[in-house]
Amino acid sequence: MMDKGFQWWPDQASNFAGRVDSLFIFLIGVTTFFTLLIFVMIVYLALKYRRRPGRKPQPVHTSHALELTWTIIPFALTLVMFFWGAGIFIHMQHPPDDAMEIHVMGKQWMWKIQHPTGKREINELHLPRGRPIKLFMTSQDVIHSFYMPAFRVKQDVLPGRYTSQWFTPIRDGEYHLFCAEYCGTDHSRMIGKVVVMEPAAYQAWLAGTPGDESPAVGGAKLFTQFQCITCHGQRGPGLQGVFGSRRKFTDGSEQTADENYLRESILNPSAKIVAGYQPLMPTYQGQLTEEQVMQLIAYIKSLNEKPSK
Ligand code: CUA
Repeated sequence: MMDKGFQWWPDQASNFAGRVDSLFIFLIGVTTFFTLLIFVMIVYLALKYRRRPGRKPQPVHTSHALELTWTIIPFALTLVMFFWGAGIFIHMQHPPDDAMEIHVMGKQWMWKIQHPTGKREINELHLPRGRPIKLFMTSQDVIHSFYMPAFRVKQDVLPGRYTSQWFTPIRDGEYHLFCAEYCGTDHSRMIGKVVVMEPAAYQAWLAGTPGDESPAVGGAKLFTQFQCITCHGQRGPGLQGVFGSRRKFTDGSEQTADENYLRESILNPSAKIVAGYQPLMPTYQGQLTEEQVMQLIAYIKSLNEKPSK
């Protein structure tokens, strides 16, 4: 919880907290053990082999057993650290398919958040307990970093690119939200709170004040407004099923169509031309706000869920 004064250990409010903490404690334990061992041995050996009258230095012989021991033990320990850490890291990079996607926009100096229903909030993030959450994030200006210590997750939020992070809140309460990347004068005030609620309470909160239209619905309107539909309707390449598909380009390269690919295709369409097509699409650079690009992407993603029109 927030404002509980000094805490020895931060709250464990997400599915990752326990695993991250176990690894952290293991690393602290290993480094503490070896640090103490080395310092004790330095003092002990310095005293034991100090210069004394009548004692001559003895020649030292190689001990293969000793060499192997101090090679194999650290090697095994570092392998444990590597696979343990990599396991958690890989899990954190792969949000489950049913994760609820929440849009996050960083700007100097606030966090703008939009829920899938369209409801917006600033510097506050309300979440239902027990539901995997995926934050889909970008910045309007400089680099920020979305950091929630109680959830043990932190991810840079970059201008001109999308990043994401996911977690499942497991405990009700209010938790800190920080910007963890120095972003200018009021960086230290770019803070907020995360409120984890009972799923029913979250639904009630969502319904509380009338929200905006959902990002996908907003994107559908832009799709018509900017006449994307003229080409991507009946006559040109349809967009259903594009998100997540494998794209092959005229230069022979390939890429999976993720959010960053869609962004590039909207703002700089000639960067990668899908094989079999002509570079006919105009650029929308400068015509769309960051939020509008996010809405269009939400719309294109939503096409995969609906039956074709
Ligand atoms: Cu935004 Cu620091």
